[in-house]
This record gives sequence, structure tokens and C-alpha cells, in this order.
Amino acid sequence: MSRTDRSTGRPPAISWTDLSVRLGGTEVVRDLTLDVPAGTWMSLIGPNGAGKTTLVRTLSGALHHRGSIEVDARDVHGLSVRERAQALAVVPQHPVIPPGMRVFDYVVLGRAAHQGVRCSPSMLDRRRTVAVLQRLELESFGDRRVDTLSGGERQRVVLARAIVQDTPLLVLDEPTAALDVGHQLDVLELVADLRTERELTVVTTVHDLSVAGQFADVVAVMADGRLVASGAPADVLTPETIGAHWGVEASTDVDHDGAVTVTVRRRRESRAPSPTPITEQQP
Ligand SMILES: Nc1ncnc2c1ncn2[C@@H]1O[C@H](COP(=O)(O)OP(=O)(O)OP(=O)(O)O)[C@@H](O)[C@H]1O
Ligand SMILES: [Mg+2]
Repeated sequence: MSRTDRSTGRPPAISWTDLSVRLGGTEVVRDLTLDVPAGTWMSLIGPNGAGKTTLVRTLSGALHHRGSIEVDARDVHGLSVRERAQALAVVPQHPVIPPGMRVFDYVVLGRAAHQGVRCSPSMLDRRRTVAVLQRLELESFGDRRVDTLSGGERQRVVLARAIVQDTPLLVLDEPTAALDVGHQLDVLELVADLRTERELTVVTTVHDLSVAGQFADVVAVMADGRLVASGAPADVLTPETIGAHWGVEASTDVDHDGAVTVTVRRRRESRAPSPTPITEQQP
């Protein structure tokens, strides 16, 4: 089923084939076929409700669907929990963290797939956890309860847990949504460095089209559950595509190396009129 990349001879890191997912009686992913070539950084973009998170969630193997989902040429349903944790790390859009858990204990859990039958962290697991916490400027938070952190600190902690998992594939659903611009850049550059160091494949969903245009090698656009475009940022992030799917007027600036910066100017006038404004109720 899997389609080998002709230039690298490697199977895609992820292959979704003829995938459809129905939730609450509606088809929210429709007939989607998409390969994530091994070693690339793919940004999955699209307006709210397009189906990006649902597509990411299919990688758990737990969502009912039609079509097939392969990770490194293996059907996700055939993977044990441990095999899946060794193959890919996923940072969900809304992670659930056990209340009261301390930062270090939460992050070191990412090492579970590397632990033997003892199921307790080794010195190596602890050292790896400390190193990643330092890299994300979180070392002073080790003893803090995760539920006392700010939104951005918490988001970096969840990312740390995925990074210590040391998988060849990292899937991040809106990894920078809660971060200030400085920490956004730190996280994106860290992921870019890890990619070079470990030949990682990275999939990120993002709303900032310039982040997609500057960090990803491949951009895939979803709208209304379908894949509507995919390719190099300069080919996909055009004012026409942005206008058609986001309903805004935008201009783009393409660097000599193909990186794209998107400037959004205004809503397109052809959109449906805004609904009646909500007025405050008088007592
Ligand atoms: N359990 C559910 N039951 C019914 N509808 C659902 C369910 N989960 C998701 N949906 C719907 O599926 C559609 C796709 O949702 P999804 O979260 O995948 O979108 P998204 O592209 O990630 O959006 P966003 O950019 O806002 O995160 C949305 O319309 C959402 O309301
Ligand atoms: Mg989402």
C-alpha cells in the first residue's frame, strides 16, 4: 500500500490513503490521501474546523475511519502501544495532564517506551529529561506542579515530553499557539535543529501562515475535511489559495530560498455579511 519515495528509497513517514472520518454524524475528513515524506517538515494548515486535529488524532489508531493509515509503512492498528510510542511522538492540541503531576515526573514519562520491564526511569532517562528541560528553559520548573504553570510554560512542558521520547517522527498540533514571539521562535528553531541532528520527520499544524511558509518544506492545506493543496510553500501559499480558503486578501513575499512571508490585509468583501452584532442585555 505504501508509496516509496523515489529520491530517497524510503517509505513515507506517514501515509494516509482514501481516509474518511465521521464524527457526530458528519464526515469531518473526506477521501484524503497524503504522504509525509521521511525527513521533511510538513505544515498542515487550514481554517478552523478544517479537520487538521482529527487527521492528527487518527495516528493514535483509536478513531473509527475508512481508508488506511501507515506510519513508516506499518499499519497503525498493527502497532502495540510501545511500538507506537517508539515510532512517533504526538503533542495534541489539548493535552490532558493528570492533576497534581510535577513537571519532571510528567516529562520523564516520555521515556516510558525506552524503559525495560522495570518501568522506572534509568539514569539515562533522567539525564535526557534534564537536558531537554534545560534546552526549553524549563529546568527551574522541575518540581512545580504542571497545573500551576502559565499556558505557554505548560505548552513547552508538553513539547519537552514529546522530545524526550526520541522518536523519528514528531507530530505537533499547534505547538506555538500559547507562546510569546520569543518562545515561539525558540521552539521552532529547536525543532529545526532536532530535525537536522536526528533526521526527524516533523508534522505541525499552525495558523500562522508565515511560520508554515518559513519553517516547512511542504505545506498541505485542508478545507472542509479535504486536502485542497500540497507542495512547496512558494507554490501553495499564494494570495489566490489564501483568499479562496481563508476568505482574506493577502500578499506574499518569497525569499531567494523559497521561504514565504504572508501579510494578511483584510477580509474579502465577497464574504457573507456578518451576523447581527450581539448587544449587551440591559438589566
Ligand atoms: N467528537 C466530535 N463530534 C462532532 N464533531 C466533531 C467532533 N470532533 C470534532 N468535530 C468537528 O470536526 C470538525 C474538524 O475538527 P478539527 O478539530 O479536526 O478541526 P481543526 O482543523 O483542527 O480546527 P482548529 O484549527 O480550530 O483546531 C469541526 O467542525 C469539529 O467541530
Ligand atoms: Mg485543531
